[in-house]
Amino acid sequence: MARQNLVGTAESILPAVAIALTTAIFIADTVTDLEIAVPAFYSAVVLLAVRFCQKRGVVLVGAGCIMLTLLSDVLTPDAVVTETGVINTTVSLLAIASTTYLALKISEEKEATYAARSQLAHIARVITLGELTASIAHEVNQPLAAIAINGNACLQWLEALPPNLPEARRAAGRLVSDASRAGDIIAQVRNLTRNVSPEKKWLLVNDIVRSTVVLIEREIQESQISLQIELADQLPPVLGDHVQLQQVVLNLLLNSIEAVNMSPQGPRKIDISSSLNNEEILISVRDTGVGIAPEIRERIFSAFFTTKRSGMGMGLAVSRSIIESHGGQIWATANSPLGASFQFSLPIDDGGDIAS
Ligand SMILES: Nc1ncnc2c1ncn2[C@@H]1O[C@H](COP(=O)(O)OP(=O)(O)OP(=O)(O)O)[C@@H](O)[C@H]1O
Ligand SMILES: [Mg+2]
Repeated sequence: MARQNLVGTAESILPAVAIALTTAIFIADTVTDLEIAVPAFYSAVVLLAVRFCQKRGVVLVGAGCIMLTLLSDVLTPDAVVTETGVINTTVSLLAIASTTYLALKISEEKEATYAARSQLAHIARVITLGELTASIAHEVNQPLAAIAINGNACLQWLEALPPNLPEARRAAGRLVSDASRAGDIIAQVRNLTRNVSPEKKWLLVNDIVRSTVVLIEREIQESQISLQIELADQLPPVLGDHVQLQQVVLNLLLNSIEAVNMSPQGPRKIDISSSLNNEEILISVRDTGVGIAPEIRERIFSAFFTTKRSGMGMGLAVSRSIIESHGGQIWATANSPLGASFQFSLPIDDGGDIAS
């Protein structure tokens, strides 16, 4: 900041410096006889002008310097026109003209650089906006799909003869919680655009895992996958945003379900566990799915990277930015003997009490 202000101040006094220099050169040139090549110093004025003028301004300054040189010659008292004087004036005029030409080139380069820089900034904004739009679409898609599924299930239970009211009520309950989750995600995005930081509270990671598993129970059952949950007791709370962390666990579980479904045969298992490791809580999601080929392991966390026909490639990119904003890390390894394993860490704060 301080440096920028200094640079700004230096730039703002340049026109005054140029005027003072021009005046000094003009006076010196007028009072000295024609044989002294004082006007050559006008080149410095032209070079100064590049710093604060556009192309047209530089041309005007160059032309002005040439006019002043000629005017000085006319005004010089008792001027004696000698061969040396004419040569010196000509050399000075050539120096001013060639400096102006070079200054114009510099000015053009400068304008081209500005144009390229602003184009780059625009591209960066478009990419960020694209990623933001894609991540909103990605995160809202899951609760919307769940709303449609639970709404249909609710209708079916009601249309059954006789209507199965307890099941219909359960489906309606899930529908309400999916809708409120979609609402929470939208509220988060609204906060993001308003530059409000996510709402961080003391959370129990095990609660996040349990509440997320409820959301994908149906998919797990339909895919005939056996889900093992192993949650460590006595984990300290972490400071975080419940909806965001739930999104991460959900993205990992959905990826694992999809990976297992893509695997033609073999065991169909997903394990999710929590544990304490030094100063961090570790959450791990392991599956027996198709696994990740070593050549794409580096790229799976990049936005828009997907190997699925209907994938957006945003799940892991969003998850990584959420975990990093919580001070943690997320990574993938191969699961032995088959499948993939995703882990993320969350730092624990000394301020938290031990809770189960
Ligand atoms: N558990 C997993 N097993 C195997 N490959 C995985 C697993 N999780 C992620 N991948 C690979 O990483 C890629 C990126 O995953 P990511 O969740 O970011 O996007 P996606 O699942 O393809 O699409 P979407 O944005 O809809 O989630 C996947 O396309 C897949 O190739
Ligand atoms: Mg995904």
